[in-house]
Amino acid sequence: MNDSAAYRLRALADGAKPPLPVTPRPIVSIGAGSIVQHAHLPAYRKAGFPVAAITDADSGKAAAMAKQFGIPAVESIQAGLQLAGSHVVFDLAVPAGSILRVLPNIPDGAAVLIQKPMGETLQEAALILRLCREKALTAAVNFQLRYAPAMLAARRIMEHGLLGDVCDMQVHVNVFTPWDLWSFLATAPRLEILYHSIHYLDLARSFFGNPRKVLARTVRNPHTPSLAATRSVIVLDYGDWKRVYIATNHHHNFPQSQESYVQWEGTRGMLRAVMGVNLDYPAGRPDSLQFAAEGQPWETVPISGNWFPDAFIGSMGSLQAHISGCAGTLPTSAEDAFDTMRTVEAAYLSSEQDGTDLPDPGGA
Ligand SMILES: NC(=O)c1ccc[n+]([C@@H]2O[C@H](COP(=O)([O-])OP(=O)(O)OC[C@H]3O[C@@H](n4cnc5c(N)ncnc54)[C@H](O)[C@@H]3O)[C@@H](O)[C@H]2O)c1
Repeated sequence: MNDSAAYRLRALADGAKPPLPVTPRPIVSIGAGSIVQHAHLPAYRKAGFPVAAITDADSGKAAAMAKQFGIPAVESIQAGLQLAGSHVVFDLAVPAGSILRVLPNIPDGAAVLIQKPMGETLQEAALILRLCREKALTAAVNFQLRYAPAMLAARRIMEHGLLGDVCDMQVHVNVFTPWDLWSFLATAPRLEILYHSIHYLDLARSFFGNPRKVLARTVRNPHTPSLAATRSVIVLDYGDWKRVYIATNHHHNFPQSQESYVQWEGTRGMLRAVMGVNLDYPAGRPDSLQFAAEGQPWETVPISGNWFPDAFIGSMGSLQAHISGCAGTLPTSAEDAFDTMRTVEAAYLSSEQDGTDLPDPGGA
């Protein structure tokens, strides 16, 4: 690659920024669990988003998190609202099965960012969407992978035509995921697609829109006999000229061959984004982005930051930019997230129902 092409690549990556508000509003964090500790609060600290208060059903957890991040712990959403004032943004990070218990306590007309998944089932997602509409909430779902620095840069490079016509997207995840970090997953009837591949389904939708069909098979693992399925292959059907698939295996305890990346291929070039967080969850390893023009070797694209925690700046930033009038659209709105939940549902239905029996051998 010559110097001017390398300079253009670097300039495109440098300019790939998430939407941000001019003046960030105070946040009330509902839930003081692992994701808040490892991603939400570190991201908000980095971005300079003020956190007015944190609350949790377990007041001891709220107190511990408050101490670690130097923010007030409160007993209720109402108490958080009093500290934050009317320009508050609520940040809801509780297990999916608790969302419908908490959402009614959010004041009508407020702004709220809801952790994914949007409920444990499509029926719950529909109830959440209906409640958001009835309460006139400006609601977004925290599908933050779209805002990871590597993904923002990849999108910008594609939008500027460096890949040509993008005809292929692959997600490969062969990692060891410590599922026991999430006690609520021990009895979850649906696991891998609903809690993990959902990020890649949402990412694919953010590039290509809703697929026409979904074909999938999700299977269990003999190492974790008490858990639901943790390995999946999902094909998103975008017609005869685009191949999009996701392949995940979360009990790949072979460090020499672990991998975690998204790859896009076009008629002129390709991109590969490594998602380091999956390779050592939750500590993570650095993300990276590489580009190759057709027939040429990889070039490293400089990116600043990782999926965890930097992408969480984008999901909160885009909601705040939208409510403050800095951004006309809300890409991860509850309406849009509902389509990601429909895609998840299609994957599970396909896994249960699809497949073609081998033809009868006949006389052979
Ligand atoms: N990349 C991501 O976006 C990402 C990563 C990890 C987890 N998550 C999601 O975040 C959610 C929380 O995950 P976690 O790892 O923090 O779980 P966690 O179990 O560590 O924390 C959940 C917290 O919610 C609190 N809680 C439960 N019900 C509540 C209620 N009604 N009111 C107030 N607090 C309540 C619990 O006491 C607990 O502290 C899950 O839905 C999970 O899928 C998202």
